[in-house]
Amino acid sequence: MEKNTFYITTPIYYPSDKLHIGHTYCTVATDSLARYHRLKGDDVMFLTGTDEHGQKIENKAKEAGKTPKEFLDNIVEGEGGILDLWKLMNISNDRFIRTTDDYHVSAVQKIFRKMYDNGDIYKGAYKGKYCTPCESFWTESQLKDGCCPDCGRPVVDAEEEAYFFRLSKYADRIQHLLEDTDFLQPRSRVNEMINNFIKPGLEDLCVSRTSFDWGIPVDFDPDHVVYVWVDALFNYATALGYMNDQRDGYKKYWPGINIVGKEIVRFHSIIWPAMLMSVGEPIPKHVYGHGWLVIDGGKMSKSKGNVVDPYALAEMFGVDALRFFLMRTFPFGSDGNFSNELLIQTINTDLANKLGNLVSRTTSMTEKYFGGTLPTQREEDALDSELKDLACALQGRYETQMEAFQTHLALDEVFKLIERANKYIDETTPWALGKDETKQIRLATVLYNLLESIRICATLLAPFIPDSCEKIFEKIGACEACRTWEAAGQWGCLPADVTVAKGENLFPRVDTEKALAQLEALQEAQKKAALPAIEVEPLMEESVDFETFLKSDFRAVKIKNCETVKKSDKLLKFTLDDGSGTDRIILSGIRAYYEPEQLIGKTAIAIVNLPPRKMMGVPSCGMLISAVHKEKGEEKLHLMLIDDSVPAGAKLC
Ligand code: MSP
Repeated sequence: MEKNTFYITTPIYYPSDKLHIGHTYCTVATDSLARYHRLKGDDVMFLTGTDEHGQKIENKAKEAGKTPKEFLDNIVEGEGGILDLWKLMNISNDRFIRTTDDYHVSAVQKIFRKMYDNGDIYKGAYKGKYCTPCESFWTESQLKDGCCPDCGRPVVDAEEEAYFFRLSKYADRIQHLLEDTDFLQPRSRVNEMINNFIKPGLEDLCVSRTSFDWGIPVDFDPDHVVYVWVDALFNYATALGYMNDQRDGYKKYWPGINIVGKEIVRFHSIIWPAMLMSVGEPIPKHVYGHGWLVIDGGKMSKSKGNVVDPYALAEMFGVDALRFFLMRTFPFGSDGNFSNELLIQTINTDLANKLGNLVSRTTSMTEKYFGGTLPTQREEDALDSELKDLACALQGRYETQMEAFQTHLALDEVFKLIERANKYIDETTPWALGKDETKQIRLATVLYNLLESIRICATLLAPFIPDSCEKIFEKIGACEACRTWEAAGQWGCLPADVTVAKGENLFPRVDTEKALAQLEALQEAQKKAALPAIEVEPLMEESVDFETFLKSDFRAVKIKNCETVKKSDKLLKFTLDDGSGTDRIILSGIRAYYEPEQLIGKTAIAIVNLPPRKMMGVPSCGMLISAVHKEKGEEKLHLMLIDDSVPAGAKLC
């Protein structure tokens, strides 16, 4: 029988920085959907990749002192880069596209020309509001409080010669697509698109730029580079060989499903189908706009130092625990508030207490009472049917939710069975049956029913936590044929004399306090790393008149003695030769930076006509001069020491 084909994509990520938990969320969700379709027997093509052109990348590379390509290669393919992250997270993508790949570059040039030749791209002058970080032009009416509606940052007036795509021409067809079909999901996103973009009127879209170089050149007008969206959106097609012969699969897999975050739904549900209409290609089956992971209700940002690092979490809790948390906790389609507490709570409640316990109790009792292998006789009881009925209905319920992209609800269904199975243990009290010689067959029946429930759950959990489910299958003695989609819909697939192996604990409980402290320390370190390397105080705006300045008497002073001050961990007491013949005493709060002996004999600078001031009971006559700045947020101080050939008392002027 020929398999159904299923094509699914993540957005292509900007490799301008390391990816964070939000990007990971999107990719894990798409991976779970791809794995679900493979489980069902579909011929799946799962694509992810990177969006490598544009001004932001060009700027970032410059900042790093690298060429754009060097910069990108490191972030994408380098150690700890994007490819490594997906490998770590057990992402099962079949292909990875980089928009700098040759085949994509030449295909985009052909696509651009095709739209130009058919009259959908024309040359004009662009005057508009431009958001540099988002690389987006906006119309006045789209701005929110005069700022970019996506990121909230200020926009600038921009004007340049540019090519335009006749988006306005497709307005009616797009409106129909959004309103009358299930193309865009979830449905709530449709109203957003209609009200915010279609109703105010679709304007033609700027699709080329002349103000930066890092892009695909328009081959018939090389002053222009193709501006982000034609380049980025068509990745989904070129990766399958559209307009190139270096990749294949377009005929077989197109059209597919694009999973995207909410802020790029506009591009995917309006611009993308219009461009496909222009080149005469079928539009995606669905675009699904998921929500965002936020922190304390707000966006994660490097400058706030609250970007959550998936590497650190996966290392602390395990890849599957992290994958599970992301998919179990946040309704796919809505925003979700990320917190460490929630992460630990989900691991402890669902994975350790519910799933982990069910597996370990069942396998350990099978080992304890039957040496690991069940006898084949059975003795049914009325209690069994509720568990079996729920288990048999699970696949259908799960499928309904997965088909509607309601991955969190699919997991809910699985957990209903897990919870029911745990309750079944309490009801059937296998430990009591174990003590009674005459109840051995009943005990075997109870354990078999539990193993079957676990098998069905593990099969349906496998798209979300593949490695852990592999281990569960090993533990419960499930052969390959017992792990299939078909088998998940059937009761009684495990052999009657199944052999189990308890083995190691799958999901150890997390010590909440310890883990939170560890995470906090990590976040502190991260915040610190986000601080500027060197910070100096801004120059004073207020001026000082020359006369006043001249009144300050700065002198070279020789440090005759330097000692700590009793009961003060801040002060050093200096005995100074200021050239007057009388020792001068100055106290200075620089104990944290110097050992007293270090400074004896050195030549420093002091202002000597400040009125004396008592500190810790000692009068200080003047002030030693230091230079101060901050390094990664930490105060640094350098006492100004000058050449020892300068005599004591020399005036600074
Ligand atoms: N390059 C474009 C997409 C082009 S697709 C043809 C882009 N890149 S991105 O790196 O900024 O974002 C990629 C995806 O990550 C988006 O779908 C975005 O919604 C998602 N996320 C980024 N931060 C996120 C969260 N905090 N939470 C969930 N997803 C978020 O846009």
